[in-house]
Amino acid sequence: MDPVLNPYSPGAGRKPAALVGRDQPRTDWQVALDRVEIGRSAQPFVLYGLRGVGKTVLLSDFRRAAADRGWIVAQVEAGAGKSLRQALGETLHAPLADLARPSAGRRLASALKTALSFKASYDPAGTWNFGVDVAGAPGGGADTGVLETDLRKLVHDLAAAADEEGVGLAILIDEAQDLDPAELVALCAIAHAAAQDDWHVLFAVAGLPSLPRVLTEAKSYAERFNYHLVKELRGSVAADALTKPAADDGVAWDGAAVGLVVEESAGYPYFLQQFGQDTWNAASGSRITYDDARVGVATGRGALDTGFFRVRWDRATRAEQKYLRAMAEDGDDGSSSGEIANRLGRRATSFGPIRANLIAKGLVYAPEHGVIAFTVPGMAAFINRQPTS
Ligand SMILES: Nc1ncnc2c1ncn2[C@@H]1O[C@H](COP(=O)(O)OP(=O)(O)OP(=O)(O)O)[C@@H](O)[C@H]1O
Ligand SMILES: [Mg+2]
Repeated sequence: MDPVLNPYSPGAGRKPAALVGRDQPRTDWQVALDRVEIGRSAQPFVLYGLRGVGKTVLLSDFRRAAADRGWIVAQVEAGAGKSLRQALGETLHAPLADLARPSAGRRLASALKTALSFKASYDPAGTWNFGVDVAGAPGGGADTGVLETDLRKLVHDLAAAADEEGVGLAILIDEAQDLDPAELVALCAIAHAAAQDDWHVLFAVAGLPSLPRVLTEAKSYAERFNYHLVKELRGSVAADALTKPAADDGVAWDGAAVGLVVEESAGYPYFLQQFGQDTWNAASGSRITYDDARVGVATGRGALDTGFFRVRWDRATRAEQKYLRAMAEDGDDGSSSGEIANRLGRRATSFGPIRANLIAKGLVYAPEHGVIAFTVPGMAAFINRQPTS
């Protein structure tokens, strides 16, 4: 079928034509937005799960829901070469510029002044100008250099401005497992303060399955955050991810074709999109048949092997690949670090740097102490298919 019209969207963070199976967190998020708007607190949302399950897509859906209500919204990705301070500061420029006007209320003027001081804390030469005279306004002082102090001041003042505007402030952080320890502590402490005093702010963070542990280790009250495990899609919901986008274009999937793709993808959203895309391209007319799905799955697997899996494998050094191979013997469920060291004939401690590098590269994570697992479903099988050299 016409590849130009192909409705499937394999790729990191790419919005699917049909966002299926996430009704609960989306409803919960709407309730939290409602609560904040009437001055009640809502705990931060934590979206966690393996790579390719749809965390970023859900986080972006949260962002749109807040933006649709006219909220002040900042979405950033941790670990993308910028500190949290800088990433948040820069992202806030556009929404603040949109809000700024000469008739700005007192709280908005002080929030703008605080934002200017926050900007100066990481970019002394920076020249933001909101076209609003903030000289006489209270605010400012978010430039002590201590992240928790400065961020607290910024979030507090922006949330107060949002309240004055009849909306809220939403702060969304993707890949949050990559925040550094001081950033995690600051974030948890500020979210805690906000919840205690009903600031008009709502946080959402997304990251790998290690994120809940990382947060609660930073601050124990992170246990009360609102955790959502983002998982593979099951049965008829996974089927919807395939059939709904096609139906919108007047194309129907045969039941057997859907069954094959759902089974072969194990319901993982990324794989559903990949196989869906390749099956569409293999089909002709306005029906997708079992044979089209067989071709699509085979083509899709090839694409995953040369793309999705390959880029991760190539990111590992030879020594790291050796470690990953030893892990792959246990499949996708995780391995004991001690057992892997045994397999490789060395002491577990000597693999500390390799493990740390693999975690930093996002290839593996530690579900619990002494255990190590792949962040990508199907990685073990991919590795086992690679020739040893
Ligand atoms: N609920 C959903 N329904 C259908 N497709 C989805 C859904 N969620 C995500 N997808 C698709 O799955 C793929 C991966 O989504 P996304 O990038 O959000 O995953 P992720 O969990 O953030 O992965 P990573 O950990 O690699 O950042 C994308 O192609 C996206 O279109
Ligand atoms: Mg993501």
